[in-house]
Amino acid sequence: MTEPQTVQWFPGHMAKTRRQIEKSLALVDAAVELADARIPVSSRNPELAGMLANKPRILLLNKCDMADPAVTSQWLRAYQAQDLRALPVDCRSGKGLREWRGEISALLADRLAACRAKGMVGKPLRLLVVGIPNVGKSSFINRVCGGARAKVEDRPGVTRGNQWFRVDATLELLDTPGVLWPKFEDAVVGQHLAFTGAVTDRVVDVEWLALCLLETLSAHYMPLLTARYGVEPAAPDALLCEIGRRRGMVVRGGEVDTERAANMLLSEYRDGKLGAITLERP
Ligand code: G4P
Repeated sequence: MTEPQTVQWFPGHMAKTRRQIEKSLALVDAAVELADARIPVSSRNPELAGMLANKPRILLLNKCDMADPAVTSQWLRAYQAQDLRALPVDCRSGKGLREWRGEISALLADRLAACRAKGMVGKPLRLLVVGIPNVGKSSFINRVCGGARAKVEDRPGVTRGNQWFRVDATLELLDTPGVLWPKFEDAVVGQHLAFTGAVTDRVVDVEWLALCLLETLSAHYMPLLTARYGVEPAAPDALLCEIGRRRGMVVRGGEVDTERAANMLLSEYRDGKLGAITLERP
């Protein structure tokens, strides 16, 4: 196996986004954080918890259609133990999104009651939608805004580029200002983000990445590898060769084109063809 690689990270970008998010938080009642249900740790920026500490928030475990349902349930129990409201959702199909409005009402029940008591009715609730790139923020906004994204006019005093969307008369969403970078410095986080395609694999060696993926999959999901490729348990490099050989990726001299096999494995994993897989456990 080649040397571990890390993905380059630029702290400057994070500092700017942190400032933008902190400003935006003053404009909203609560935050909706999206994470990738396949990698609930690596797809959440750890700095966000601090930034959102004083806001009611809800966590949406998105792409749950591609995650292992048993592990998703474990995550939900873990969040419940931490008093964090979390919901599994699939923003591509809309599954799970029927429940989220109820969760928001429950989350903001005190605030809504206080507003009613003061006779302040009719003011829409405002929510900040946050998450790292590719986690499904646009899909979520599109889904809950009913297809045609109803963009609200630019508001004075709001950073240019802040995007407001109207769900209905009672609810408005603000898209993450800036780019909330994932936490790349941790090698495993970088790897998991590259497995799912959240970061481009142009920045890492594809064969190395595929070997890392095989190491993880053979530990937890060997039956899925066997079902898809007909391979038996073996070391990652032997598995990659066997997968390539079984797919006819043999070059002159009878050698397996492992780069091609690696690309195929990663792309089939990302397309969910191997099955429902979660790479991180509570
Ligand atoms: P972002 O705004 O946070 O950057 O993410 P975006 O909504 O653009 O979603 C990134 C990719 O993830 C999109 O795929 C989107 O379709 C997919 N996606 C979002 N939510 C889900 C989900 O719950 N399940 C699954 N399986 N996929 C989801 P894409 O390949 O970039 O585009 P496309 O295939 O939709 O054209």
